[in-house]
Amino acid sequence: MKIRVTTTEWDRYEGDVLAIPVFEDEAGEFAASLDAKIGGLIEELKGTQEWTGRQGESTILYRPAGLKVGRLLLVGAGKRASFNVNVVRSIANLAFRRIKGSSFKRAAFLCRDEVDPGRAVQAVTEGLILASYDGDDYKTEDKSRTLVEEIHLLGKCLDESAVDRHIERGEILAYATNSARRIINEPGNRMNPRLLAEKAQELSEKYGIGVEVWGEPELKKNGMNAVMAVAQGSDEPARFIILRHQGGAGNEPPIVFVGKGVTFDSGGLSLKPAQSMEEMKSDKAGACAVLGALQAIAQLRVKKNVVGLIPAVENLPSGRAQRPGDVIHSMSGKTIEVINTDAEGRLILADALHYASSLNPQFVVDIATLTGACVVALGHVRAGLFCNDEDLFQRIMRASEQTGEKLWRLPLDDEYRKEIRSEIADMKNVGSRSGGAITAAKFLQEFVGSMRWCHIDMAGVDLFKDGQEGKGATGFGVRTLAQLALDEDFSTD
Ligand code: BES
Ligand code: ZN
Ligand code: ZN
Repeated sequence: MKIRVTTTEWDRYEGDVLAIPVFEDEAGEFAASLDAKIGGLIEELKGTQEWTGRQGESTILYRPAGLKVGRLLLVGAGKRASFNVNVVRSIANLAFRRIKGSSFKRAAFLCRDEVDPGRAVQAVTEGLILASYDGDDYKTEDKSRTLVEEIHLLGKCLDESAVDRHIERGEILAYATNSARRIINEPGNRMNPRLLAEKAQELSEKYGIGVEVWGEPELKKNGMNAVMAVAQGSDEPARFIILRHQGGAGNEPPIVFVGKGVTFDSGGLSLKPAQSMEEMKSDKAGACAVLGALQAIAQLRVKKNVVGLIPAVENLPSGRAQRPGDVIHSMSGKTIEVINTDAEGRLILADALHYASSLNPQFVVDIATLTGACVVALGHVRAGLFCNDEDLFQRIMRASEQTGEKLWRLPLDDEYRKEIRSEIADMKNVGSRSGGAITAAKFLQEFVGSMRWCHIDMAGVDLFKDGQEGKGATGFGVRTLAQLALDEDFSTD
């Protein structure tokens, strides 16, 4: 699929489909000329309430008489005042979803002049590419018939001189998201810690990222006992994956991203109920966010040192599995009483965060499908964000506002710490049911020492739910982590 900018006026475009964003409160010259071309139809549709221009709406007009295009796709752009790049990305996404089942070869999207043209071009590009991935790679039907060959961007984007750079940036970020999605969507029989490490090695070769993989001997030697404890119930041994992007000076402290890589989470001996257990193949979504972010960061040649850390395990029950009541000597030296083997994410992250502190990082961001409690708190719209540093919090929020991946801050008050007090060890791995997302974050905080740190609990946003922009994995986090690194690199804008 080629995306390019074309100088054709929208009303002269001759391809198969033209998508035009139309506002709820559409007015002025454009509204008049559009309505003139299509015989006052928008006014008529609005009059009958068949079409209001609300975001999420779309209508196809067949062979519109006043235009040269085969189909006109009107996409609701919402209120003019709330139009921004995130709306642009999501309507481009919707537009492409609407047409992609058909055999259209040439389509166009009209960029409206309400947002910065460069950022709009990037957002449209992202929306189109994100919409092109479906998460149904295991369907054997031939999809080649429906591949759109060319997408033309018309309208306001023309004023932008560096337009190719914006298209390229959008392509890199969206394709990295799609490749993360593809890995997340792999079921447990096709993805395990060993294969995840192989994926990391493939990526590193393809994009020139440094990679180091620890197997059992190295994990043992380095005392990563919390990682080992979770993995011990599975026949698949754990891996610890270290990715290094060297964009800055050799001695510059790195930005570190840590992703939870549980390739399947059955709960272990604290077995989960069967209902929806299959969704736990996406318990590696944090790891894949880190993989995707490093891919994008390498391709964008970000001039910063960035390290990605992925503890990868499979959490299964067996005769060798860890038991509730077991005590682990974590890598940091702190001891953990395992009350519930289903709270495994925080165990593997404990060792990974401790390892991160040995890298003397600028800051650390971990991302994990960590708690069902976070889903209860925030649903499927925003991920939970916990930070021990105000400045880092601001930076992450700024990145998230640019990518449209929504976050909401939750607290880290010390009063919550008592929930994980253990009678026999330095801490236990679960508290009471109340504030479960927060106590999980408090647990992680035990292992970050004095590092500047944020934790993203993405348990509620790892998979699309009905009515959202697709199915399967969302790829949440890839673009925000990459954007965060981009924003740190002051040589780019
Ligand atoms: N992977 C789950 C969290 C999760 C839940 C992710 C729902 C996505 C959707 C995690 O390992 C887990 O099982 N957490 C437990 C913790 C509890 C035992 C304290 C949970 O949230 O129930
Ligand atoms: Zn679990
Ligand atoms: Zn889990």
